[in-house]
Amino acid sequence: MNDLTGKVILVTGAASGIGAATCFKLRDLGATVSGCDLSLVPLKTESRFEGLRMETVDVRDPEQVQAFVDLVVERHERIDAVVNCAGVAPTSYTTLMTHETTHHDWDQQIGVNLTGTYTVSRAALPALLVQGGAIVNISSIMGLIATAGASAYTASKAGVLGLTRSMAVEYATSGVRVNAVCPGYIDTPMVHTGLSRSDDPAAALRLLELLHPMGRLGEPSEIADVVAWLVSDSASFVTGATIPVDGGYTAI
Ligand SMILES: NC(=O)c1ccc[n+]([C@@H]2O[C@H](COP(=O)([O-])OP(=O)(O)OC[C@H]3O[C@@H](n4cnc5c(N)ncnc54)[C@H](O)[C@@H]3O)[C@@H](O)[C@H]2O)c1
Repeated sequence: MNDLTGKVILVTGAASGIGAATCFKLRDLGATVSGCDLSLVPLKTESRFEGLRMETVDVRDPEQVQAFVDLVVERHERIDAVVNCAGVAPTSYTTLMTHETTHHDWDQQIGVNLTGTYTVSRAALPALLVQGGAIVNISSIMGLIATAGASAYTASKAGVLGLTRSMAVEYATSGVRVNAVCPGYIDTPMVHTGLSRSDDPAAALRLLELLHPMGRLGEPSEIADVVAWLVSDSASFVTGATIPVDGGYTAI
């Protein structure tokens, strides 16, 4: 159903977690995938990254982003889809109230999660507009609901949903669809880094699992499956959508 043969797809945050799983899924469905990340060090020894082209890019830097987009267009003469997955969580997983957080933390989370999504989309849109295509933005359940102690992250992910809807409306008649996926807690290094800061990581993990009616965390591949559908022609009438993929987290 989601045959992606012939599609050139750009994925940010590609070295880890959901971004890496998305690259594997898109590649396995026939797409030509170009990934980027802040650091590519973990990939050097990993055979599962075979067949993927990876570049070092900081999505906060418009010049690096433009150079990456230009490189992909030069290599493949088109871009059919962009998956904005690069993201950072709060540096502290203790519940820091808004007045206790720092401007540095705010700038970091807004800068990567929201402004990075804008920067990459802005750079890739001229190529997407040539033949039409799709953008998928990875937001979060935190873009839909709030939890105490994560105001910058929540604001960044809610901002991604607003940006998604704005771009969807702007490009609806130009053949570029723009959608957002809101994962629940997913079994990735981001979550495990947070859990490792807890006094009792095993108990904290169980608590997180129980927040999902399905009683477990999601797998990165379960997000990748939805992204693959959204970039495929099977989703041809889907734009401006916000899709929770959260084991029921936001249903209660
Ligand atoms: N894991 C979860 O529970 C969860 C839930 C909801 C949303 N998300 C979102 O999904 C996305 C992927 O998260 P993940 O769990 O796979 O985390 P992860 O930490 O495993 O991967 C995130 C990747 O983004 C990269 N990155 C960070 N800053 C960057 C920058 N400035 N430029 C380029 N790359 C950068 C990191 O190096 C890392 O490889 C993020 O946007 C995250 O906010 C994750």
